[in-house]
Amino acid sequence: MSNPITSTLSDEARKVAGDALQGSLVDLLDLSLIAKQAHWNVVGSQFRSVHLQLDELVADSRGFVDEVAERAAAIGVSPDGRAETVAKTAATVGFEAGWRPDGDVVGAVVANLAAVVAALRGRIADTESADPVTQDLLISITARLEQLHWMWQAQQA
Ligand SMILES: [Fe+2]
Repeated sequence: MSNPITSTLSDEARKVAGDALQGSLVDLLDLSLIAKQAHWNVVGSQFRSVHLQLDELVADSRGFVDEVAERAAAIGVSPDGRAETVAKTAATVGFEAGWRPDGDVVGAVVANLAAVVAALRGRIADTESADPVTQDLLISITARLEQLHWMWQAQQA
């Protein structure tokens, strides 16, 4: 289907912003899936706090997913959140299958947050002149993910 949604951006700016939003979409979708997988599979003496904290990460990630997908739509870019696309393109570092000790879960969450933040920071630089509105959204998401990265990392000390 030809594009039914016209963009207020130039074709070039739309491409840059669209790529940044699509990349963020798959990363945040996978982060939400990893957090739920961890929520179900964590075991250990810190089970309860880690289990509950993981659902906060799920809620934040899912909220951000919708914001980036709808920003893409708003600039005339069709968002692709299909499982196949997420599996092939997400910049996350994954999560081991099976029951996972709480300390390993914390480490995996920190590593995934770091990977997502690194990719977002690259996209913040990419979108600076192409679309400051998209950049602003990515900055606000990154600020929250960096706060979560600190809070998860603080549990490893
Ligand atoms: Fe639950």
